[in-house]
Amino acid sequence: MTANPVDFDASPNNLEPFWMPFTANRQFKKAPRLLVAAKDMHYQSHDGRTILDGTAGLWCVNAGHARKEITEAVAAQLGKLDYAPAFQMGHPGAFQLSNKLTQMMPDFDHVFYCNSGSEAVDSALKIALAYQRAIGQGARTRLIGRERGYHGVGFGGISVGGIVSNRKVFGPLLAGVDHLPHTHDLKRNAFVRGLPEHGAELADQLERIVALHDASTIAAVIVEPVAGSTGVLLPPKGYLQKLRAICDKYGILLIFDEVITGFGRLGASFATEYFGVVPDMITCAKGLTNGVIPMGAVFVRKGIYEAFMNAPENTIELFHGYTYSANPAACAAGLAVLDIYKREGLFERAAELAPYWEAGVHSLKGTKNVIDLRNLGMIGAIELEPREGKPTARAFEAFLGCYEKGVLIRTTGDIIALSPPLIVQKTHIDQIFDTIGKVLKTVN
Ligand SMILES: Cc1ncc(COP(=O)(O)O)c(C=O)c1O
Repeated sequence: MTANPVDFDASPNNLEPFWMPFTANRQFKKAPRLLVAAKDMHYQSHDGRTILDGTAGLWCVNAGHARKEITEAVAAQLGKLDYAPAFQMGHPGAFQLSNKLTQMMPDFDHVFYCNSGSEAVDSALKIALAYQRAIGQGARTRLIGRERGYHGVGFGGISVGGIVSNRKVFGPLLAGVDHLPHTHDLKRNAFVRGLPEHGAELADQLERIVALHDASTIAAVIVEPVAGSTGVLLPPKGYLQKLRAICDKYGILLIFDEVITGFGRLGASFATEYFGVVPDMITCAKGLTNGVIPMGAVFVRKGIYEAFMNAPENTIELFHGYTYSANPAACAAGLAVLDIYKREGLFERAAELAPYWEAGVHSLKGTKNVIDLRNLGMIGAIELEPREGKPTARAFEAFLGCYEKGVLIRTTGDIIALSPPLIVQKTHIDQIFDTIGKVLKTVN
């Protein structure tokens, strides 16, 4: 029996079949916002408007949109070698990219590839467990995350993550996971510029967790150095250093999830460089390819890879990997964007612009409903008082208002999070904060 042929070209552009991720589908489909083109700092919408990108897409387009060098590199790669398996085979781009990345991150000597931040997190958690076993510490199976942490949407990531909506309907999750308290403290730290003064002592909660479970059962701690998706929660001064010291004391691996802080967001290559704290593993994605081809990666610190190299040479050392690990087009995009970051000095540029950005964020002090303003590097957050009985409604209205006025912002709960491409100009920064200020005045 042959199926009826379907004329795909004749089908209308029906919005219904696409189940949109992390989206209020019914609301969106009643009043869609489609982006149809992008260049440098701007999107074009389906209704012909120009929208300034205040969020680098989803924290990923650090070098700005539609960079010719990346497009050409990907096109050339696809024309030459479209796909190569990464299991028991290789292609030059994967090795070139790994060399460049490890040159950029001298404490880390190997890179494991996947396709997203979520997969990078799950890969890092698995490497942590396998590493502990490889060094004779196989009883270390517990993983410690943090309240309000976001580590993507895999079962590992939501287990160590701490955002209730992302967890509550998905069952018991991974066993043997515990959580540090989050560091958000509006009472003590509201409206501080840069890093909060208070809260380093919250890292000591790891001592309590160790006392409860015993260090011999704990494999790793994972945190975002700056928590992004939960609304830009900055680490109190000294907090990350304390975490590092406690992990060292007990032989616990420290993983920094740098999916948003990687590739220049803080005005340094990674948060590890910015804070001067070296974790054992770093997860990244997003800015790794400027968002254009899905790719994630895990950097491992010197010594971790070697611990896996004990079995006979013909054995697979780590039973983990993806069909698209180190996909050739993604590697080509990664190599091209690393060139752009370097040639245009975008990480340094972010550091130079950070004070102007900070002034922009804090210019909103006193604006209606604003209960906190936060900034670090080229990240900003505006926290709004939630509307009585209707959490998230106020921020979502601000989002729609800004979109109408030609600026793309991102909201999470009642927090507006900002993270422009690192090619942003001062005039764009002015436009972002003028627009948000005007819109907030109109939102009740
Ligand atoms: C810190 C962090 N980890 C992991 C992820 C998940 O990345 P992805 O959406 O690529 O799976 C994100 C995404 O925003 C993130 O911010």
